[in-house]
Amino acid sequence: MRAITIPTPGDASALVLDEVPTPEITADEVLVQVAAAGVNRADLMQRRGFYPPPPGTSTYPGLEVSGTVSALGSGVTGWSVGDKVCALLSGGGYAEQVAVPAAQLLPVPDGISLIDAAALPEVACTVWSNVFMTANLQPGQTVLIHGGSSGIGTMAIQLAAALGARIAVTAGTSEKLEACRALGAEILINYREQDFVEVLADATQGLGADVILDNIGAKYLARNVSALAVNGRLVIIGLQGGVKGELDIGALLQKSAAVIATSLRGRPAAEKAAIVAAVREHVWPLIESALVKPVVHRTFPLALAADAHRELEASSNVGKVLLTT
Ligand SMILES: NC(=O)c1ccc[n+]([C@@H]2O[C@H](COP(=O)([O-])OP(=O)(O)OC[C@H]3O[C@@H](n4cnc5c(N)ncnc54)[C@H](OP(=O)(O)O)[C@@H]3O)[C@@H](O)[C@H]2O)c1
Repeated sequence: MRAITIPTPGDASALVLDEVPTPEITADEVLVQVAAAGVNRADLMQRRGFYPPPPGTSTYPGLEVSGTVSALGSGVTGWSVGDKVCALLSGGGYAEQVAVPAAQLLPVPDGISLIDAAALPEVACTVWSNVFMTANLQPGQTVLIHGGSSGIGTMAIQLAAALGARIAVTAGTSEKLEACRALGAEILINYREQDFVEVLADATQGLGADVILDNIGAKYLARNVSALAVNGRLVIIGLQGGVKGELDIGALLQKSAAVIATSLRGRPAAEKAAIVAAVREHVWPLIESALVKPVVHRTFPLALAADAHRELEASSNVGKVLLTT
């Protein structure tokens, strides 16, 4: 089969389309004939040599796919050859076939195309696990979503809107902020021109955000703590603004607030399975009733994976970039 490999880490041209062996499946895995793979910011880091796959997983990039089940491990129940699925992966998605733990499979939701389904697993699992399972966002609470037009942001806005939360977002252009508004965001903050702490304070009578979903890390740490409400929860999922910052524990203590950082890829298989099951129970019905939809910016053929990476690096996307086999 063909897959994208990274013989030498580097810029987008480091991605090479290669002939590689078909993956073998274990008893609790299925083989998926890939239709499409999602491109994630983590893939860019892996390509540059900064985010190695966990031990024992595929070395090819790709954290999510959609496709058709083509073979079943001896211990797999509940799935059949020919099923249309999408899946959360630890790697290996930029390929024509991939081995997937059966517990990380999801059916393609009713009403969603096989290709578009590849836009769902990583963002649905990341947002559900962080904003809802960990930060416990409640109806009527305010959530600040940094990078609102990102793949993650577009899913977070829609899920928070479906819950009945009040949504603030940051983005770098007015066009992206309008896209966020169309998805359900109310408080729109251009991070290049405005201070999100001030705008949020004005919009919430000084109360701040109950939950913040942050992709920036160190550069926003102090301001995120300032923007938190009493009992607020800051969940850091990205480090685009650096890894080391100074935490004002006094400010945190006065608010009885929490700072949490998580990574989906590194979690044990049982935790991933629990997240996938929760997403199937809570998020899939919202997608099947068209309250929440995959937001696909652009699709590239697998052979043009380098162009797909350049698109994400240029931040010209609203929503997800996909590769098709
Ligand atoms: N921990 C986990 O388990 C996990 C899982 C999935 C994703 N993530 C992380 O989630 C983030 C989003 O992932 P993605 O794949 O959806 O990426 P993406 O579509 O490439 O989005 C990146 C976003 O970062 C925004 N951004 C850049 N500088 C910013 C700033 N100073 N303030 C606010 N936003 C800024 C960009 O906004 P503009 O385009 O408007 O500049 C863009 O929306 C990434 O950091 C990724 O690593 C983490």
